[in-house]
Amino acid sequence: MSDVSRPSPSDTGSEARPARTAAVIPAAGRGVRLGPGAPKALRALNGTPMLIHAVRAMAASRAVSLVVVVAPPDGAAEVKSMLDAHALPGGTPSGSWGSTDFLVVPGGASRQESVRLGLDALPPGYDIVLVHDAARPLVPVDTVDAVIEAVREGAPAVVPALPLADTVKEVEPATAPGTPEPVVATPERARLRAVQTPQGFDRATLVRAHETVTGDVTDDASMIEQLGVPVVTVPGHEEAFKVTRPLDLVLAEAVLARRRLNDGF
Ligand code: C5P
Repeated sequence: MSDVSRPSPSDTGSEARPARTAAVIPAAGRGVRLGPGAPKALRALNGTPMLIHAVRAMAASRAVSLVVVVAPPDGAAEVKSMLDAHALPGGTPSGSWGSTDFLVVPGGASRQESVRLGLDALPPGYDIVLVHDAARPLVPVDTVDAVIEAVREGAPAVVPALPLADTVKEVEPATAPGTPEPVVATPERARLRAVQTPQGFDRATLVRAHETVTGDVTDDASMIEQLGVPVVTVPGHEEAFKVTRPLDLVLAEAVLARRRLNDGF
């Protein structure tokens, strides 16, 4: 939970007028790979919906003053009351979470469309935008801050990234599931990175990318690459993994248990 008494970015005095930062959280996916049940972002981790963990992770950064949650298309009202219910114990009015405001908008059929709908809802005055998957509920605040810092220093697009443990093969995908797939190439592992979120952007560049790029993409930074604008990485974190399959839920609950132990609860 964010600290309600923390200073706003404009009170920190380190910069005359720091660019304000908003986070867009696409949370409209069904999460089919996790098995049947509620939309993935609304499923619980240690009794708290994954989305709430993700919003807390963004609000934990002093730089983030607005979170736009992109809800399942038919679930915006439910998500709004869920956010209010989890924010209110902190003593803040509806629509805010400590000193972080939040908005909820209905999402679309693809992640890309959901992010665009979130961007459309962003009020003026936020020059830096983070896009963060609700499915990465445990990203540490230091990773969030490192992404924001790199954008503040002038990078138009920043992604947290980790080296790979596995060797990766490019294949000719099978037409029928379970049949052998011919290997086409083995990219040099040392040059590959697995990228995470939050990805951070100069707002105008991200908006231009969403207006221009129409092909299928799996992250926002690749749209920036298609514009020919440079994208850089900062170190990611193993706790920023994406909760995709049932085993990821077990891992996420273990991370939360370790944190509670370390925090002395
Ligand atoms: O499907 P995938 O795991 O790549 O989804 C990444 C994030 O995008 C998730 O947080 C999911 O809720 C979100 N998403 C969305 N709208 C969709 C599909 C996915 O907001 N139509």
